[in-house]
Amino acid sequence: MTEQGNVNWGFIGAGGLATGTTAQSLHNAKNATLYAAAARDKGRAQSLSPKIAYDSYEKLIQDPQVDAVYISLNNDAHLPWIIKSLDAGKHVLCEKPMVMNAGDTVTAYAHAQDKGLLLVEAVWSLWHPRAQRLKELISINAIGSPTNYLGTFTFDGVSPGNYRLDPTKGGGALYDVGIYPLHALVALLTEDTNYTVTMAHDEKLNEQVDMTMKAQFNFENPQCKGSGAIVASFAMHPSQRFVLKGSEGEITLPGDQAFTSYNQESELTITANGVTSTETFVAVDPYQLMFENMSDRISGNGGWLPNPWQSVQVAKIVDQVFKSALVCAERP
Ligand SMILES: NC(=O)c1ccc[n+]([C@@H]2O[C@H](COP(=O)([O-])OP(=O)(O)OC[C@H]3O[C@@H](n4cnc5c(N)ncnc54)[C@H](OP(=O)(O)O)[C@@H]3O)[C@@H](O)[C@H]2O)c1
Repeated sequence: MTEQGNVNWGFIGAGGLATGTTAQSLHNAKNATLYAAAARDKGRAQSLSPKIAYDSYEKLIQDPQVDAVYISLNNDAHLPWIIKSLDAGKHVLCEKPMVMNAGDTVTAYAHAQDKGLLLVEAVWSLWHPRAQRLKELISINAIGSPTNYLGTFTFDGVSPGNYRLDPTKGGGALYDVGIYPLHALVALLTEDTNYTVTMAHDEKLNEQVDMTMKAQFNFENPQCKGSGAIVASFAMHPSQRFVLKGSEGEITLPGDQAFTSYNQESELTITANGVTSTETFVAVDPYQLMFENMSDRISGNGGWLPNPWQSVQVAKIVDQVFKSALVCAERP
């Protein structure tokens, strides 16, 4: 860590997200430095403008100046680099989906705990002030107890050759975008909530991954009981919806950008006891907030981070969805 308390970050991977967005978000962060970047192509690592560029991820994690790493590799490579980075004594922020199943999620967090280091899944939407306000509204029962949920995240246009179409690299719409509506709901309900997937349909459209995944589930805890549905797709028009109904009202996130509001004003509409009102949120960069909050936590200055149980819960639902899609496909 620098004398000013800035956290030195190392970027593992310089793909589309890192080069297009997150490196700049880290450069903009007030308490963090993009100290190192590593990519298979050193020139691409250099393009993130770090203080030092490496042509190997291994060299980066062995750099004693690096306090924390941010992993933005294809999904199947997350777990091995989480474990190696923790073993090298680095805090880890890993892109979503952090790992590929619930068992590995538990393993990864247990390893971080053993090492006394932070491990955080980079579900950037959770740092948006609108997501924080949603949690507040649900915790004060602003719409009564939740009863029905619909979350969709769809788009069209994954390029041929992209890892998202490769089942061996953790491709597929559920892993890529379906986890956003799941995280959004899981963040609102308590840890003791039980989720049971009742139906899932996986449409491959001549590819080897789920191009569209639709799933329905029930949720229940001592305070609420209801049902939910998600749609995730690489083959539908771009759309992101969030609707949560409760016993006494409803919350929606208007604007068709429920999970990726970035540097633009956003809104939340709530109907409670028959009265509808809209709250407006100033434009923010949630990636920057994510880096700043994790850096604050590393420096001992507070910082909000999602709880590990949320990632475990989402991974358990994802496991159930894949299992249910197989069962449903085998039905006559
Ligand atoms: N939070 C968000 O908004 C958001 C948005 C997009 C993606 N993501 C997540 O970020 C991660 C990367 O996504 P992306 O869109 O940046 O992907 P991408 O452009 O395809 O980049 C893939 C990354 O994987 C690395 N890689 C290592 N071995 C590879 C191999 N054998 N084949 C292909 N790539 C390999 C590349 O490393 P080198 O740089 O070393 O070549 C590159 O950094 C994924 O986990 C994704 O879910 C999150």
